[in-house]
Amino acid sequence: MRCPHCRHETRERARFCGTCGASLESSVSCPRCATINPLGQKFCDACGESLASAGGASERDARAYTPRHLVERILTTRSALEGERKQVSVLFADVVDSMRLAERLGAEEWHRVLDRIFAILSAGIHRFEGTINQFTGDGVMALFGAPVAHEDHARRACHAALSAMSELHAYAGALRARGLELSVRMGINSGEVVVGKIGDDLRMDYTAQGYCVGIAARMQQLAAAGTVLLTESTAQLVEGFFALADVGPRSIKGVSAEIRTFELRGVGPRRTRLDGSALRGLSRLIGRETELTWLDGILTRSMESTGQIVGVIGEAGVGKSRLCLEFIQRCRARGIPVHEVHCPSHGATVPWLAIRELMRGYFGLAPDTAADSIRRTVEQQLLALDAGFASAVPLVLEILGIGDSGQRPARATPQAATFMRRFFRLQSTSQPGVLFLDDAHWIDRASDELVQVIAASVRGTQTLLLANFRPEYKPAWIGGSHYHQLALSPLGEEASRELVRDLLGSDGSLDELSARILERTGGSPFFTEEVVTALAASGSLLGERGAYRLATPIEGLALPVTVQALLAARIDRLGERAKDLLQVAAVIGKQFDEPLLREVSGLGDGHDLDAVLGVLQDEEFFRLVTLSPKPEYAFKHPLVCEVAYLSQLGERRAQVHAAVATALEKLRSDRLGEYASLIAHHWEASGMRFEAARWKRRAALRVANIKVGVRGVRRRPARPPENG
Ligand SMILES: Nc1ncnc2c1ncn2[C@@H]1O[C@H](COP(=O)(O)OP(=O)(O)O)[C@@H](O)[C@H]1O
Ligand SMILES: [Mg+2]
Repeated sequence: MRCPHCRHETRERARFCGTCGASLESSVSCPRCATINPLGQKFCDACGESLASAGGASERDARAYTPRHLVERILTTRSALEGERKQVSVLFADVVDSMRLAERLGAEEWHRVLDRIFAILSAGIHRFEGTINQFTGDGVMALFGAPVAHEDHARRACHAALSAMSELHAYAGALRARGLELSVRMGINSGEVVVGKIGDDLRMDYTAQGYCVGIAARMQQLAAAGTVLLTESTAQLVEGFFALADVGPRSIKGVSAEIRTFELRGVGPRRTRLDGSALRGLSRLIGRETELTWLDGILTRSMESTGQIVGVIGEAGVGKSRLCLEFIQRCRARGIPVHEVHCPSHGATVPWLAIRELMRGYFGLAPDTAADSIRRTVEQQLLALDAGFASAVPLVLEILGIGDSGQRPARATPQAATFMRRFFRLQSTSQPGVLFLDDAHWIDRASDELVQVIAASVRGTQTLLLANFRPEYKPAWIGGSHYHQLALSPLGEEASRELVRDLLGSDGSLDELSARILERTGGSPFFTEEVVTALAASGSLLGERGAYRLATPIEGLALPVTVQALLAARIDRLGERAKDLLQVAAVIGKQFDEPLLREVSGLGDGHDLDAVLGVLQDEEFFRLVTLSPKPEYAFKHPLVCEVAYLSQLGERRAQVHAAVATALEKLRSDRLGEYASLIAHHWEASGMRFEAARWKRRAALRVANIKVGVRGVRRRPARPPENG
């Protein structure tokens, strides 16, 4: 049987789960009244409900609770998602003392209450794009980051928990009026799972790695009523984004070391990843002087003549936000007002979020300003700007999230567009300013439409509209003579070396490590910082930032979980075929030629391969290295190759390795000696030891021959020339 907590396949007569230690005898909870029943019982001995569908899940179908776009995305890419390792956050929620509640309410009423609780939990979870994997008798288990990867899975889980908790709190208030005490507790843990089969009902089988799911369930059991308990691994990922209280280490059955736990208290001061780096202390800005000077030139133009727009475009972690931050700090130092908007990664589905932040900035509203005070401020300021704005007050309050009409359309209305155009012009014609939009690729649709209105109005003002975004976002406001684009490249070799030296220090023990970090991180400052942070956290580095020493010789550089989740999310945005080809290529290696890829992928002679290769080049996963004698490609970033490789299960990887070895034997038949050791490597990785040994011998023989040959060449001149 399977453990209902961590789904470990246990022995037939096991009483406790061998992986997470959960009791297996008492863990079927009734889907109706949540009574814990002994396994093997067909009906609940408290309320008579059938237990046929229990054993962890009730008859509720996750599909009915999941938003359509998510259902479609999962179902259309499911075969590419199945069998993958994923970094996830797991959330468990359940009703405290549900049996007593059920008893007091009676089966029918209890069912209604439970339905409401499930609806609230589901709404919170789906708002942040989690998927409900399982309805336990009186709660749910949700995953963030699987089946579809999310770079910020832990933050999403915490947001979902807080949002559902606050709704549940309100509902509990209503029940309290009827003399009923309702409270829910939640637990979150982050780690790795392997995505198994995904059913038509979206139920996903998974294997928990390192107790990931079991520990999340334990956190929920340990949480006090009405609270959310996190493990240290989740806490680390959300540090600064949320207010956390350290509630000390807990020992957990089945886990040898104690686990530090934290209570989730609310949102924190940090808004962006860069805010977090700032907490740790920003690294010295390296390079980018040319870019800053260029930006200065455009700012001058916008101040002297007419407003300008700049789009800074680049991959995650390349340094877009940092460059913009440096620039706006310089602007502020010169007394030029800057209005900032940061689009959070989960914000794309929250209508008006970005524009709300912009408006709050314009009106000078602090995060804790009370609604009444906001109403007064907005009204005063709008009327001071233009008496005609009186009728726009309700709209602005609606955008700010404190309107009375309760109608906040998901798209910008013509009325909102008209207001925005006028408001922006009045704000910015008479004085210079910068409007900064960070992470514009995550902007919600309604805000995007209003930014388009602003962009169209910029010309007549002294404003510089500065936005940064990733390549997958194609803003509608690109183009026009006042639009400029800066494609930000990774740091060059010299700058990267300088950054690594700044982060590590220059102790002699670090030379080899520095070289390996440089090769691996490919000029991405974010990846470089994360790799160093991970090494320090693992104890491989001693000392402090900028003055480390190597503690132990380093075998392989572990992949930081943050980088892994970020790149996995990027890979998951690909269609199924492109993703599949990317994974095949990752097994071949960092560089590969087209005939080999064609042979291994089985994409044959048609145009299929060309089309998919085109996509992977457009999306900046591959770059063309050379066209002749045969087209050769390479991964643009070494870590993408690594993540695409590591996220596959061993079994699939072994199959592809064997296919690569076979293809090499076929395609390199004229130069087998040269390729013997590579072929041996692929056979070895596929688990075919015998084949591997055969090719290793051949490779060794060739090395011996070359040595003999080299010696022969060297000796020759010493020999007296024949017939000379
Ligand atoms: N030129 C640079 N010199 C030093 N550190 C940098 C540089 N550019 C970026 N960083 C650091 O790298 C990390 C990622 O940069 P960030 O601007 O957040 O990337 P992006 O916005 O492109 O995703 C940040 O911690 C930032 O401080
Ligand atoms: Mg950024």
